[in-house]
Amino acid sequence: MRKYIKYLVLLALVWALAYGVGRIYYRTTGGFTISNITYDLPYDARWEMRSPDEDEAHAVEAILHQPFHYLGKGCQSYVFVSEDNRYVLKFFKYQRFRPKAWLPYMTFIPGMEGYLQSKSECKKRKLESVFSSWKIAYEDLLPETGVLFVHLNKTQLNMTKGQREKPFVIYDKMGWEHSLNLNDYEYLLQRKAKLLCPTLDGLMAQGKVYEAKQLLDRLIQMLLSEYHRGYADNDHALMQNTGVLDGRPVHIDVGQFVKNDKVRDPEVYNHELFNKTWKFRKWLSENHPELASHLEMLLRQVMGDEAFSALKPRLNKASMGVLSHHAD
Ligand SMILES: Nc1ncnc2c1ncn2[C@@H]1O[C@H](COP(=O)(O)OP(=O)(O)O)[C@@H](O)[C@H]1O
Ligand SMILES: [Mg+2]
Repeated sequence: MRKYIKYLVLLALVWALAYGVGRIYYRTTGGFTISNITYDLPYDARWEMRSPDEDEAHAVEAILHQPFHYLGKGCQSYVFVSEDNRYVLKFFKYQRFRPKAWLPYMTFIPGMEGYLQSKSECKKRKLESVFSSWKIAYEDLLPETGVLFVHLNKTQLNMTKGQREKPFVIYDKMGWEHSLNLNDYEYLLQRKAKLLCPTLDGLMAQGKVYEAKQLLDRLIQMLLSEYHRGYADNDHALMQNTGVLDGRPVHIDVGQFVKNDKVRDPEVYNHELFNKTWKFRKWLSENHPELASHLEMLLRQVMGDEAFSALKPRLNKASMGVLSHHAD
């Protein structure tokens, strides 16, 4: 009996050590590896983008001449910031979107084959949904997102039709250098923004109440203009996903846009707007009550007093909306 206890303790220690090493590794690297941002995807005509005009192409080329450094990650992407601190580059976290390499070896378990099939289709749908959202951001919502370029099909040549003479360089979280041929990766280039809440904090600390209110006005105008054109952002984490560029709000997370004519219906977009701003209004009332009142006034103006008072928030844990890519 004592022998077994000794083994059990030893096993627990080995497990704890392996877990600890794993955690430390994850903390120091952010889980970033080149293989995690690499996926051998076939060409897909759906992900062809409009070609950048000559000025855009030159600007993007110039930006990509500088190295980029690890900035952070979200659920879907690894984010790198340019040396001049003005741009971010996003790569897919493909470990989230492709079937686990070891799963096919489990097919001897009854029912596993069908399960694997449905799991891999679900991941494929999720990836296609983000691809489609990046395309929407680049083709239809440039001013609203600060996106400069999106690359979703592997290419042979760079945008200015010459071969890039210098390889593109990124530094990972540990400061290790990696040279990449960007033509082989799916990526998105975007202007770097300041986050909305710290920007409001800063304006209020300087007594710039008018500018803070103006930012809220512009935020509501931007969302309404998107709804009127049939666009919505299913990611309702407005405080984490909204930045400010030149005094204007922008969506920094561009992974959950949908185009769906249903959104043009005031009943639908009123509810969207109400849900999306719910937590933000709570944060404002705790931190800047004057701004909370201003935002409530704006929402009442948009929806009408009666409709506003009748609405109840429909929230879920992941702060996700449920609008599909097509009107059903
Ligand atoms: N344009 C940007 N400007 C400044 N920070 C950004 C920008 N885009 C992303 N970030 C930072 O990187 C994080 C993850 O980016 P995000 O686009 O939200 O990725 P994901 O889709 O994986 O959630 C953001 O929460 C933010 O901190
Ligand atoms: Mg995000």
